[in-house]
This record gives sequence, C-alpha cells and structure tokens, in this order.
Amino acid sequence: MKCGLHNQNDERPMSILFISGSPTEQSRSARLLDAARERVGKHGFATDWIQVRDLPAQALLHADFKDPVLSEAIGRVEAAQAVVVSSPVYKAAYAGVLKAFLDLLPQTGLAGKLVLPLATAGSPAHTLALDYALRPVLAALGARDVVAGVFAVDTQVQWWPDTGLHLDPNIESRLDAAVASLIEGLRRAEREALHQRHLDAPKVPFGAVRVST
Ligand SMILES: Cc1cc2nc3c(=O)[nH]c(=O)nc-3n(C[C@H](O)[C@H](O)[C@H](O)COP(=O)(O)O)c2cc1C
Repeated sequence: MKCGLHNQNDERPMSILFISGSPTEQSRSARLLDAARERVGKHGFATDWIQVRDLPAQALLHADFKDPVLSEAIGRVEAAQAVVVSSPVYKAAYAGVLKAFLDLLPQTGLAGKLVLPLATAGSPAHTLALDYALRPVLAALGARDVVAGVFAVDTQVQWWPDTGLHLDPNIESRLDAAVASLIEGLRRAEREALHQRHLDAPKVPFGAVRVST
C-alpha cells in the first residue's frame, strides 16, 4: 500500500517492516503484531512482513550472510523507515530466534529508524522484559527512537477459529496509542526530511535569475 510519505534520501514511500520473532506457528505475539499492522494500514503506509521462523534455520544459526533469503531479509530491514517487532517472552527475556536474526544486522542496522516493540507472555511476572531485555538491543542497533511498547499476557490476546482475534480492551487502547505514536514519529521524520531536502536543494544565484517580459 502506498502513501505520500517519503524517505529522506529519495522519493520512495516510507515503509514499515513488521518482524515476528516467535518460533511458533500459531503465534499470539504474531497476532498482536498483525493487529498493529492492520492499524498502520489505515494510515496508508507501505508495509512489509518478516517471520523469523520462516528464515532458513541453518543459515541463521551459522550466520551465513551469503544465504540469499537471509541477506534479502536483512536488506528489507535496511529499506524500512520503521520497524514493529514482536516476540514471546521466553525465560524472562525475548525469543532466541529473534536474537539470532538481530545479531546478523549490521552494527547500526536500525540507525535512523523508529521502532515499536510488542510482546506476549504467559504471566505478568515479566512485564518489564521489553524494557530490560529487548529495548537495550534495539537502542544498541541505533534505533532513532523506541516507542513505548505493548506487553500483553496470553489471556489478553485470544484467538478463536470462527471469530478471529479478540484483544482485551486495555490492550486495544494501548496498541492504538503505540501505533499513533509511531505514525506521529514517522510524520515528524517526513517533515524533517522535506525540510532537509529544501536546504540541500541547489540554490540559483540571484544574478542568474532571468525573467521573461
Ligand atoms: C520456551 C518457553 C518459555 C517461556 N518463558 C516464559 C517466561 O519466562 N515468562 C512468561 O511470562 N511466559 C513465558 N512463556 C509463555 C509465552 O511467553 C507466551 O505463551 C507467549 O504468548 C507465546 O507467544 P507466541 O505464541 O507468539 O510464541 C514461555 C513459553 C515457552 C514456550
């Protein structure tokens, strides 16, 4: 989906990449991520989606940068202006497969990007896992801003085959606020990029101005 918001360096539309970091097929955190994507879609941004569990496992574990699927996934991170990343809480932190992928990004692989982290967990015991485990990694990768994330426990993210996803109203409103914050950050980035393009545009010396009469 296209919209009128563009990159700082060129005329391509701004895009938001959604990264699901769960190794599970029927993933709650991926469904929460999809709910975020649905909300972002209403704002007309281009979106992209990576499921780390679909990446070639051996290449991921062996850090095989020559693997075409893996290097293409890394390229998609590079191409995005914002990243929404979701993970289950595993052993009081985030999923190891997500870390395996983040480890393969360049040192500043999130430089200049806005990031929104999401997590689901079995219990509220590790509510702060986003802040003490994932956020420092995202910051170390150079994220321009890590928007306040959304943490949900399993009972707040329910999936029924006949009616689909049911989010607890509290999670709904926190997700709405988090997405609004991300969108606002992107629009601010766009305004700054436009301003910068204006400053960088070649200036015509006054003496060179010709007026037809
Ligand atoms: C290996 C494993 C470790 C887990 N560790 C924790 C944990 O430390 N704390 C917690 O609250 N939930 C833990 N859980 C529960 C998951 O975080 C929770 O069910 C989550 O919603 C699963 O997300 P997913 O469906 O996207 O994989 C663990 C689950 C598994 C399978």
